[in-house]
Amino acid sequence: MATELKIPRHIAFIMDGNGRWAAARGLARSEGHREGAEALKRVLAACAQKGVQVVSVYAFSCENWSRPQAEIKFLFSLISQFAKKELKKYAEMGYRVTFSGDLTQLPKSTNNAIKKVVDASKNNTGMIVNIALNYGARQEIVRAVNLILQSGIRQVDEQMFEDCLYTAGFPELDLVVRSSGEKRLSNFMLWQCAYSEFIFTDKFWPDFDENTIDEILKEYSSRDRRFGGIK
Ligand code: FPP
Repeated sequence: MATELKIPRHIAFIMDGNGRWAAARGLARSEGHREGAEALKRVLAACAQKGVQVVSVYAFSCENWSRPQAEIKFLFSLISQFAKKELKKYAEMGYRVTFSGDLTQLPKSTNNAIKKVVDASKNNTGMIVNIALNYGARQEIVRAVNLILQSGIRQVDEQMFEDCLYTAGFPELDLVVRSSGEKRLSNFMLWQCAYSEFIFTDKFWPDFDENTIDEILKEYSSRDRRFGGIK
Protein backbone atom coordinates (compact mmCIF):
# COMPACT_ATOMS: atom_id res chain seq x y z
CA MET A 1 0.00 0.00 0.00
CA ALA A 2 1.35 3.45 -0.89
CA THR A 3 2.20 5.63 2.12
CA GLU A 4 -0.23 8.51 2.62
CA LEU A 5 1.42 11.80 1.59
CA LYS A 6 2.04 14.03 4.60
CA ILE A 7 2.60 17.70 3.96
CA PRO A 8 5.04 19.52 6.26
CA ARG A 9 3.62 22.76 7.64
CA HIS A 10 6.96 24.52 7.37
CA ILE A 11 9.95 23.48 5.23
CA ALA A 12 13.38 25.14 5.38
CA PHE A 13 15.78 24.78 2.47
CA ILE A 14 19.55 25.25 2.70
CA MET A 15 20.14 26.10 -0.95
CA ASP A 16 23.65 24.77 -1.44
CA GLY A 17 25.72 23.80 -4.48
CA ASN A 18 25.22 26.74 -6.86
CA GLY A 19 28.99 27.16 -7.27
CA ARG A 20 29.64 23.47 -7.92
CA TRP A 21 26.71 23.29 -10.35
CA ALA A 22 28.33 26.12 -12.35
CA ALA A 23 31.87 24.70 -12.11
CA ALA A 24 30.66 21.33 -13.45
CA ARG A 25 29.54 23.19 -16.58
CA GLY A 26 32.58 25.43 -16.91
CA LEU A 27 30.47 28.46 -15.97
CA ALA A 28 31.07 31.35 -13.57
CA ARG A 29 29.69 30.94 -10.02
CA SER A 30 27.27 33.79 -10.74
CA GLU A 31 25.55 31.57 -13.34
CA GLY A 32 25.00 29.00 -10.59
CA HIS A 33 23.34 31.62 -8.41
CA ARG A 34 21.20 32.78 -11.35
CA GLU A 35 20.03 29.21 -11.91
CA GLY A 36 19.56 28.91 -8.14
CA ALA A 37 17.01 31.72 -8.33
CA GLU A 38 15.18 29.82 -11.12
CA ALA A 39 15.16 26.68 -8.94
CA LEU A 40 13.73 28.72 -6.07
CA LYS A 41 10.79 29.74 -8.26
CA ARG A 42 10.08 26.08 -9.14
CA VAL A 43 10.36 24.99 -5.52
CA LEU A 44 8.05 27.74 -4.24
CA ALA A 45 5.43 26.92 -6.87
CA ALA A 46 5.58 23.20 -6.05
CA CYS A 47 5.36 23.81 -2.29
CA ALA A 48 2.41 26.19 -2.67
CA GLN A 49 0.65 23.66 -4.89
CA LYS A 50 1.12 20.95 -2.22
CA GLY A 51 -0.28 23.15 0.54
CA VAL A 52 2.89 23.88 2.51
CA GLN A 53 2.21 26.84 4.83
CA VAL A 54 5.73 28.28 5.17
CA VAL A 55 8.88 27.92 3.09
CA SER A 56 12.07 29.34 4.60
CA VAL A 57 15.19 29.62 2.43
CA TYR A 58 18.77 30.40 3.43
CA ALA A 59 19.84 33.02 0.89
CA PHE A 60 22.75 34.74 2.67
CA SER A 61 24.30 33.90 6.02
CA CYS A 62 26.15 36.22 8.40
CA GLU A 63 29.24 34.18 7.45
CA ASN A 64 28.78 34.72 3.69
CA TRP A 65 30.30 38.23 4.02
CA SER A 66 33.69 36.48 3.84
CA ARG A 67 33.10 35.67 0.13
CA PRO A 68 34.77 37.77 -2.62
CA GLN A 69 33.28 41.26 -2.88
CA ALA A 70 32.20 40.69 -6.50
CA GLU A 71 30.16 37.59 -5.56
CA ILE A 72 28.49 39.41 -2.65
CA LYS A 73 27.61 42.29 -4.98
CA PHE A 74 26.18 39.89 -7.55
CA LEU A 75 24.10 38.04 -4.95
CA PHE A 76 22.54 41.23 -3.61
CA SER A 77 21.76 42.50 -7.07
CA LEU A 78 20.13 39.14 -7.89
CA ILE A 79 18.12 39.26 -4.66
CA SER A 80 17.02 42.87 -5.37
CA GLN A 81 15.85 41.88 -8.85
CA PHE A 82 14.08 38.85 -7.41
CA ALA A 83 12.30 41.08 -4.89
CA LYS A 84 11.22 43.63 -7.51
CA LYS A 85 9.94 41.02 -9.96
CA GLU A 86 9.17 37.63 -8.44
CA LEU A 87 8.39 38.56 -4.83
CA LYS A 88 6.19 41.41 -6.05
CA LYS A 89 4.28 38.84 -8.11
CA TYR A 90 3.98 36.52 -5.11
CA ALA A 91 2.63 39.39 -3.01
CA GLU A 92 -0.02 40.01 -5.68
CA MET A 93 -0.87 36.29 -5.69
CA GLY A 94 -1.62 36.41 -1.94
CA TYR A 95 1.63 34.99 -0.54
CA ARG A 96 3.16 36.71 2.47
CA VAL A 97 6.84 37.60 2.10
CA THR A 98 8.98 37.85 5.24
CA PHE A 99 12.69 38.06 5.98
CA SER A 100 14.81 36.65 8.80
CA GLY A 101 18.08 38.36 9.60
CA ASP A 102 19.71 41.71 10.26
CA LEU A 103 18.54 43.74 7.29
CA THR A 104 20.19 46.97 8.50
CA GLN A 105 23.54 45.80 7.06
CA LEU A 106 22.23 45.20 3.52
CA PRO A 107 22.81 47.49 0.52
CA LYS A 108 20.21 50.29 0.54
CA SER A 109 18.69 49.28 -2.79
CA THR A 110 18.14 45.69 -1.57
CA ASN A 111 16.68 46.95 1.67
CA ASN A 112 14.22 49.23 -0.15
CA ALA A 113 13.10 46.47 -2.53
CA ILE A 114 12.57 44.10 0.40
CA LYS A 115 10.63 46.63 2.48
CA LYS A 116 8.19 47.16 -0.40
CA VAL A 117 7.23 43.47 -0.73
CA VAL A 118 7.08 42.90 3.02
CA ASP A 119 4.73 45.86 3.35
CA ALA A 120 2.63 44.98 0.31
CA SER A 121 2.10 41.41 1.51
CA LYS A 122 1.83 41.83 5.28
CA ASN A 123 -1.90 41.14 5.44
CA ASN A 124 -1.85 38.25 2.95
CA THR A 125 -2.96 34.84 4.14
CA GLY A 126 -1.36 32.59 1.51
CA MET A 127 1.90 30.66 1.81
CA ILE A 128 4.65 32.48 3.70
CA VAL A 129 7.90 32.88 1.76
CA ASN A 130 10.52 33.56 4.43
CA ILE A 131 13.95 34.55 3.14
CA ALA A 132 16.91 34.36 5.51
CA LEU A 133 19.27 37.20 4.61
CA ASN A 134 22.29 38.18 6.67
CA TYR A 135 20.95 35.50 8.97
CA GLY A 136 22.60 33.38 11.65
CA ALA A 137 20.74 31.25 14.19
CA ARG A 138 23.07 32.08 17.07
CA GLN A 139 22.67 35.78 16.26
CA GLU A 140 18.87 35.29 16.19
CA ILE A 141 18.94 33.65 19.63
CA VAL A 142 21.14 36.38 21.14
CA ARG A 143 18.86 39.00 19.61
CA ALA A 144 15.86 37.33 21.24
CA VAL A 145 17.62 37.33 24.62
CA ASN A 146 18.39 41.04 24.25
CA LEU A 147 14.79 41.84 23.28
CA ILE A 148 13.65 40.07 26.43
CA LEU A 149 16.20 41.84 28.64
CA GLN A 150 15.23 45.21 27.17
CA SER A 151 11.58 44.53 27.98
CA GLY A 152 12.49 44.08 31.64
CA ILE A 153 11.04 40.55 31.86
CA ARG A 154 13.10 38.41 34.26
CA GLN A 155 11.66 34.97 33.54
CA VAL A 156 10.61 33.51 30.21
CA ASP A 157 8.92 30.37 28.94
CA GLU A 158 9.36 28.74 25.53
CA GLN A 159 6.41 30.59 24.00
CA MET A 160 7.70 34.01 25.07
CA PHE A 161 11.13 33.15 23.69
CA GLU A 162 9.68 31.98 20.36
CA ASP A 163 7.73 35.21 20.10
CA CYS A 164 11.09 37.04 19.95
CA LEU A 165 12.42 34.99 17.02
CA TYR A 166 12.06 36.07 13.38
CA THR A 167 9.71 33.12 12.90
CA ALA A 168 7.26 34.25 15.60
CA GLY A 169 3.79 32.89 14.89
CA PHE A 170 4.92 30.45 12.18
CA PRO A 171 3.88 26.81 12.40
CA GLU A 172 6.41 24.23 13.61
CA LEU A 173 9.43 23.65 11.34
CA ASP A 174 8.65 20.09 10.24
CA LEU A 175 11.40 19.56 7.69
CA VAL A 176 14.88 20.87 6.86
CA VAL A 177 16.31 20.05 3.41
CA ARG A 178 19.91 20.62 2.38
CA SER A 179 21.13 20.16 -1.16
CA SER A 180 24.56 19.30 -2.60
CA GLY A 181 25.64 16.46 -0.31
CA GLU A 182 26.73 18.58 2.67
CA LYS A 183 25.38 17.31 5.99
CA ARG A 184 25.43 20.22 8.36
CA LEU A 185 23.15 23.05 9.50
CA SER A 186 25.58 25.95 9.09
CA ASN A 187 23.96 28.12 11.77
CA PHE A 188 20.44 27.84 10.29
CA MET A 189 17.29 27.85 12.46
CA LEU A 190 18.84 26.07 15.42
CA TRP A 191 15.96 26.70 17.83
CA GLN A 192 13.26 25.96 15.26
CA CYS A 193 14.68 22.59 14.14
CA ALA A 194 14.53 20.92 17.56
CA TYR A 195 12.04 18.32 16.27
CA SER A 196 12.44 18.69 12.51
CA GLU A 197 13.07 15.86 10.12
CA PHE A 198 16.20 16.26 7.98
CA ILE A 199 16.68 15.36 4.34
CA PHE A 200 20.12 15.65 2.76
CA THR A 201 20.30 15.12 -0.97
CA ASP A 202 23.31 15.04 -3.30
CA LYS A 203 21.44 17.08 -5.90
CA PHE A 204 22.77 20.63 -6.41
CA TRP A 205 20.27 23.39 -5.68
CA PRO A 206 19.93 24.62 -9.31
CA ASP A 207 18.70 21.12 -10.25
CA PHE A 208 15.75 21.27 -7.83
CA ASP A 209 12.31 21.10 -9.44
CA GLU A 210 8.77 19.84 -8.80
CA ASN A 211 9.96 16.22 -9.06
CA THR A 212 12.53 16.84 -6.33
CA ILE A 213 9.75 18.18 -4.11
CA ASP A 214 7.66 15.07 -4.84
CA GLU A 215 10.61 12.84 -3.84
CA ILE A 216 11.24 14.87 -0.69
CA LEU A 217 7.58 14.72 0.37
CA LYS A 218 7.53 10.97 -0.21
CA GLU A 219 10.61 10.54 1.97
CA TYR A 220 9.19 12.85 4.67
CA SER A 221 5.91 10.91 4.65
CA SER A 222 7.77 7.66 5.33
CA ARG A 223 9.36 9.02 8.52
CA ASP A 224 8.00 7.87 11.86
CA ARG A 225 7.84 11.02 13.98
CA ARG A 226 7.53 10.14 17.65
CA PHE A 227 8.58 13.38 19.38
CA GLY A 228 10.20 11.41 22.18
CA GLY A 229 7.17 9.17 22.71
CA ILE A 230 6.56 5.57 21.70
CA LYS A 231 4.02 3.95 19.42
C1 FPP B 1 25.18 28.32 -1.56
O1 FPP B 1 25.81 27.74 -2.69
C2 FPP B 1 24.29 29.35 -2.00
C3 FPP B 1 24.30 30.64 -1.55
C4 FPP B 1 25.22 31.15 -0.53
C5 FPP B 1 23.37 31.61 -2.11
C6 FPP B 1 21.97 31.15 -2.28
C7 FPP B 1 21.37 32.02 -3.27
C8 FPP B 1 20.54 31.64 -4.25
C9 FPP B 1 19.98 30.29 -4.41
C10 FPP B 1 20.19 32.67 -5.25
C11 FPP B 1 18.77 33.00 -5.28
C12 FPP B 1 18.22 33.48 -4.01
C13 FPP B 1 17.27 34.41 -3.95
C14 FPP B 1 16.61 34.73 -2.66
C15 FPP B 1 16.84 35.16 -5.14
P1 FPP B 1 27.36 27.95 -2.85
O2 FPP B 1 27.59 29.20 -3.60
O3 FPP B 1 28.03 27.89 -1.51
O4 FPP B 1 27.73 26.70 -3.70
P2 FPP B 1 29.05 25.81 -3.59
O5 FPP B 1 29.08 25.25 -2.19
O6 FPP B 1 28.85 24.76 -4.63
O7 FPP B 1 30.19 26.71 -3.88
